[in-house]
Amino acid sequence: MTQHQRLLIIDFGSQVTQLIARRLRELSIYCEIHPYQKVTDAFLQDFAPKAIIFSGGPDSVTREGSPRPPKSAFTLGVPILGICYGQQVMMQELGGLVESGHGTAEFGRAFVTPTDKSLSILEGWFDAGQEQVWMSHGDHVSRIAPGFEVYGTSPGAPFAITADVARHFYAVQFHPEVHHTPKGAKLYENFVRLAGFTGDWTMASYKDDAIAKIRAQVGDKRVICGLSGGVDSSVAAVLIHEAIGDQLTCVFVDHGLMRLNEADEVVSMFRDNYNIPLIHADEADLFIGALEGVSDPEVKRKTIGKLFIDVFQREANKIEGAVFLAQGTLYPDVIESVSFSGGPSVTIKSHHNVGGLPEKMGLKLVEPLRELFKDEVRALGRELGLPEKFIGRHPFPGPGLAIRCPGEITREKLDILRKADAVYIDQIRKHGLYDEIWQAFVAILPVKTVGVMGDGRTYDYACALRAVTSVDGMTADYYPFSHDFLGETATRIINEVKGINRVTYDITSKPPGTIEWE
Ligand code: XMP
Repeated sequence: MTQHQRLLIIDFGSQVTQLIARRLRELSIYCEIHPYQKVTDAFLQDFAPKAIIFSGGPDSVTREGSPRPPKSAFTLGVPILGICYGQQVMMQELGGLVESGHGTAEFGRAFVTPTDKSLSILEGWFDAGQEQVWMSHGDHVSRIAPGFEVYGTSPGAPFAITADVARHFYAVQFHPEVHHTPKGAKLYENFVRLAGFTGDWTMASYKDDAIAKIRAQVGDKRVICGLSGGVDSSVAAVLIHEAIGDQLTCVFVDHGLMRLNEADEVVSMFRDNYNIPLIHADEADLFIGALEGVSDPEVKRKTIGKLFIDVFQREANKIEGAVFLAQGTLYPDVIESVSFSGGPSVTIKSHHNVGGLPEKMGLKLVEPLRELFKDEVRALGRELGLPEKFIGRHPFPGPGLAIRCPGEITREKLDILRKADAVYIDQIRKHGLYDEIWQAFVAILPVKTVGVMGDGRTYDYACALRAVTSVDGMTADYYPFSHDFLGETATRIINEVKGINRVTYDITSKPPGTIEWE
């Protein structure tokens, strides 16, 4: 099995630590984020990083008991890059001084002026004089540690860029990982290059390693995999199938809340294209029956989630000797980020998944995508030859169309919704906008309105179009369609879909709205 060159990111709790990992993965560098509490001397030895990055963080190094890296990080002999809090902690630990208080804070855009352009991590910087960076700090370094020199300053940070070149320690006050530091990616590139990284984290090598790992984990046992038709579970299933062939069986629970032709497409892709053993549990009657008379969003979600698990479990029990459950868990789901706020957050929506099943059924987990971000999963899907149509799909929620049909669900409403959604997506594809949008769908509203078509009166449903841009689904902006596009789409929906006579466009961002309507 290939051993990738590894970079360790020690997380001190910054809101943007994940972006450091994103920037590095874009450079084909394998890195992992670990909270500072977990990074002990023994952990460091074991991890054997080729370089280390200290993230930013909300604490103040002037506070007793504030987060620290292990002392051995400085004696490993590997390059270190400290960012914001990471810079301050590096200075403090190596004999410099950090101060807080009046006049030391700097938030938002700032400009760094070079004092010495010779530093190799600054290659490509300062060609046009100053560089724009993004600052977010309350404290600042007031005396650099012995061995360090200053390479750049900003109005609020006299030591904006510092380095001890002999030891390969670099420390910056700003955040190179955010887009508001336009040359930030270049700084990371320079840093990993001087640390000796060759960019060996490619999807082809990842695929081979993942296959070898799956074979070693599963041996001659059997694996079951819940398929939703979404990109994560599809990629996981195809990868596992490539590793262990018919020892994998997929279970597709069709709750009757899928989009137009979706169930057939999922089933035929797995059965016909890949010849992967697939159980297709057609349970539309069960789910839609159970949802009769239910209009509360949380009751809907919980009803669907519970039935899903019941059906999955029933089908899984039919598979002899299955001891593993495969899941398309991604890296953002497993990063143990440092939480300073503590306490449970409120439940906005009960997300539906198969959590709880592994213990209940005595199953062990196979999670071959645990180290990947969403766009890397898509790259892996391409490497595995999955059709582009599957790979580029917008996310689709587990409870399906049920949460796009506010209020009580009926088969009639679901049919209308499916048709309207298909027209809308067709419009988006025809205008070449599909890949610019994180997610787009129609919600059918629980209200009928009066219209006039030809010479007659209509009394039909109103619907809402939704389209958002987002990076991770946590926050979102509505997509700024042109009025022409909206007008043309509304006309097509009303003409082509019997049952809808009014179309609205939802321009709510998240927050305060959510992406789905329920
Ligand atoms: P909201 O509506 O909370 O959605 O802004 C954020 C993202 O999550 C998707 N979503 C779900 N995905 N099971 C899922 O697998 C769910 O129960 C679920 N609910 C919402 C939603 O489509 C959006 O991409």
